[in-house]
Amino acid sequence: MFEEITKQIKEIKEIVVVTGAGVSQESGIPTFRGKDGFWKNYNPMKLATIEAFYENPKLVWEWYNERRENIFSAKPNQGHKAIVELEKYATVTILTQNIDGLHQKAGSSNVFELHGSIMKIKCTVCNFKSSQIEKFSQIPPLCKCGNMLRPDVVWFGESLPQDVWKNAIAKASQCDLMIIIGTSLVVSPANTLPIYAKQNSAKLIEINPEKTEMSSKMDLVLRKTGAEILPKLISIFKEN
Ligand code: APR
Repeated sequence: MFEEITKQIKEIKEIVVVTGAGVSQESGIPTFRGKDGFWKNYNPMKLATIEAFYENPKLVWEWYNERRENIFSAKPNQGHKAIVELEKYATVTILTQNIDGLHQKAGSSNVFELHGSIMKIKCTVCNFKSSQIEKFSQIPPLCKCGNMLRPDVVWFGESLPQDVWKNAIAKASQCDLMIIIGTSLVVSPANTLPIYAKQNSAKLIEINPEKTEMSSKMDLVLRKTGAEILPKLISIFKEN
């Protein structure tokens, strides 16, 4: 299988890499729905919705603070690093659902954060945004305008930043190859990206130890972890 697609990959110039929590699992960041995933132990409706935030902003802030600490100390793994190397052989765009910044930390140059960033904050009311996360003297911290600040992430029920999503669709619609890594593909609209790629007759490769909703639509499914298989996949480009 691996060899079969090699010949087709040779021609490929525009690659879109769609990532989810699984790509960072080997950096010590839990996934959401997998084994030991966050949503196995916590209710997302109590932590990742605007309603939950208004009901208990302290709880939501504390949960994000805890996650930020874990993410801050996490290092990119071999999977993230292999994706950086891919840039030597093709134009690579990463469309990530992750808020951990590990693709950028690894050195990837073209990353679109579909679900925002845990390293950024914004005001719940005015247009204030910042990437300066300090030790706030009160939780929840307040904006200069007097309203609550919140993590600049996309919660359930919220729209993706329009410019980011527009670019994501454009990139997905133009690519020759889409590599989908570590996402269960159950969350919309990110899970529609493979459909845009398919409409452009792009090849789809899924890297995931588990079956997903869209596995049957893939041209190649690699049931391995990102850190295991991505360096091998990239070596195909090296050889050609
Ligand atoms: N390598 C590759 N894939 C892995 C690995 C690994 N080491 N470990 C786990 N996986 C796979 C799991 O099998 C699973 O299919 O990663 C996937 C993770 O799926 P989810 O936990 O659902 O994460 P994701 O798809 O990114 O979630 C989407 O849901 O809660 C929201 O906003 C949150 O961005 C998140 C969105």
